Amino acid sequence: MSDANRKSHWETVYTTKGENEVSWLQENPAPSLELIDLARPTLESAIVDIGGGASRLVDSLVARGFGRVTVLDISEAALEAAKARLGGRASQVQWIVADVTKWYPTQTFDVWHDRAAFHFLIDPADRSAYVKCMKQVIKPGGHVIIGTFAIDGPEKCSGLPVDRYDAASLAKELGGGLELMESRGHDHSTPWNSAQRFQFCVFRRTA
Ligand SMILES: C[S@@+](CC[C@H](N)C(=O)[O-])C[C@H]1O[C@@H](n2cnc3c(N)ncnc32)[C@H](O)[C@@H]1O
Repeated sequence: MSDANRKSHWETVYTTKGENEVSWLQENPAPSLELIDLARPTLESAIVDIGGGASRLVDSLVARGFGRVTVLDISEAALEAAKARLGGRASQVQWIVADVTKWYPTQTFDVWHDRAAFHFLIDPADRSAYVKCMKQVIKPGGHVIIGTFAIDGPEKCSGLPVDRYDAASLAKELGGGLELMESRGHDHSTPWNSAQRFQFCVFRRTA
């Protein structure tokens, strides 16, 4: 998929579908919050949600008092939806419209969180750009939390093909300098009550 097509796909999704019409809606982001807790962040920790879209994770992070939260997504419409929902609290968050595979960050982060964005990167060059970027921005001792469809999860999401992972294949894809701290499955229930098997991993940056 070309860069333009990728952006256009996601802008169309977020401008034409309501929150309840996308399979990935999660009213309570408890699985991600539990894993972020494992990283033991302080309220000053810099946390980035990669491909955060219109997810409600940011609402919970702001409500918990985290003061350095960033949400990055390729879709401006997704971020506008999240901002509208947050209202006045949106100004407490840094919003970045970017393709993570082309992003040149100017800051570092303590926690990198990604629920259901990495698995769309089916081109090895895109995955390599993602990993390079992640390793540039995550501080030594920082944490990387990635949720993808599991090996027995769906083969497509939003009409697009995805790659599916277990902890070993994800660790291999991310390469050295990361220690696997935790991996767990999660059964996501879509708004129309179908089950999707996810796999979440937490890594600690060691070098
Ligand atoms: C399945 S949705 C998940 C959204 C959100 N993480 C959640 O849990 O609700 C995938 C998200 O990744 C974003 N995305 C896809 N490819 C991306 C890329 N290359 N760079 C940044 N965001 C991307 C999409 O716009 C979309 O918001």
